Amino acid sequence: MFHSRTIFVLVLFALSIVAIIEAANNNEKMDKSNVLKSLLARHKRSYLAYRFADGIEYVVPEVRETFSCAQREYGYYADVGNNCQVFHVCVPPGQQFSFFCPNTTIFDQRLLICQDQYTATPCQEAERYYVVNQNFGVLEEDKLVRV
Ligand SMILES: *[C@@H]1O[C@H](CO)[C@@H](O)[C@H](O)[C@H]1NC(C)=O
Repeated sequence: MFHSRTIFVLVLFALSIVAIIEAANNNEKMDKSNVLKSLLARHKRSYLAYRFADGIEYVVPEVRETFSCAQREYGYYADVGNNCQVFHVCVPPGQQFSFFCPNTTIFDQRLLICQDQYTATPCQEAERYYVVNQNFGVLEEDKLVRV
């Protein structure tokens, strides 16, 4: 015969077990959903990176995926790893949209346009001109970065 106190303790014990199992389940669910969320966020951030319109294979046969918008401010960036035939629009935090210039043109980082490869700012100098992106949204003439 159980004492009512024994029964009370047993019920309490059972309830604790249930509570612990619940907590563990919740934790696991939380972890899974966090992992899923961060995967989705990463996917969302960069899923357009190095995705191009049709026909890139005729203009840039071997695309090298070396450029990343991670830690970059908003702007247009020539992709030096692809001889500036490719450029990217970076939208923080980390979104990356990739484009290629028309055949025989490269992205001129100083002017932010695709230009004939012989008249454009040389691709080797592109990174030096990434600072022009600081001019987006600047309204006062004297605050513009001059290049
Ligand atoms: C790109 O330009 C080169 C040089 O003029 C030419 O040989 C090639 O066929 C062109 N490619 C396309 C896709 O037009």
